[in-house]
Amino acid sequence: MIWQNMDITRDLRANQKTQKPVTIWFTGLSGSGKSTLSNEIEKRLFAEGKHTMSLDGDNVRMGLNKNLGFKEQDRIENIRRVAEVCKLMNDAGLIVMTSFISPFRSDRLNSREIIGEGNFVEVYVSTPIDECEKRDVKGLYKKARAGEIPNFSGISSPYEEPQNPEITIDTTGKSIEEAADYVMEKIRPYL
Ligand code: ADX
Repeated sequence: MIWQNMDITRDLRANQKTQKPVTIWFTGLSGSGKSTLSNEIEKRLFAEGKHTMSLDGDNVRMGLNKNLGFKEQDRIENIRRVAEVCKLMNDAGLIVMTSFISPFRSDRLNSREIIGEGNFVEVYVSTPIDECEKRDVKGLYKKARAGEIPNFSGISSPYEEPQNPEITIDTTGKSIEEAADYVMEKIRPYL
């Protein structure tokens, strides 16, 4: 296959939007606060006039990735597709937020490679499992403990902590505003 060059490039699209397209990649356990936080960050960036897009695990799994489950191979493919979509959206000039558990270190590294170092900002939402389980917003931990959900991240399927994330945030005991203030300050240098 030969790459087809286009006259309108990624840089031109980005310049037209006067922004640097990056992917802000939230990773962490179910219930850690990824979606809530990325939603708040997108609202703030949008209010500043940035052109943004959000990709969320539950939503993407109802569309593009509806043929994938939670076994290891499916999670790998889930994250690979998401990374390719992020790259395309960055090519389109957009600032992208993702919230996927993305439990495997190798997949996150692969995503970083696909999207490109310098465009990839990994935000580890490090809220401990006890707190996630206490929140149990979707009632999934209860079901997983009862053996009703196989391969549940943090219980019957591993979550590999990031070793060198750009940003780490534990949302325990923090308001959405407090957590978002912290993340906004930390992502600023990458925008
Ligand atoms: S990932 O591991 O492939 O990155 P993803 O973020 O897309 O996961 O989807 C996670 C969401 O799917 C969870 O927030 C939860 O709502 C739901 N879910 C259903 N089954 C599982 C499971 N076995 N493990 C984790 N999440 C699950």
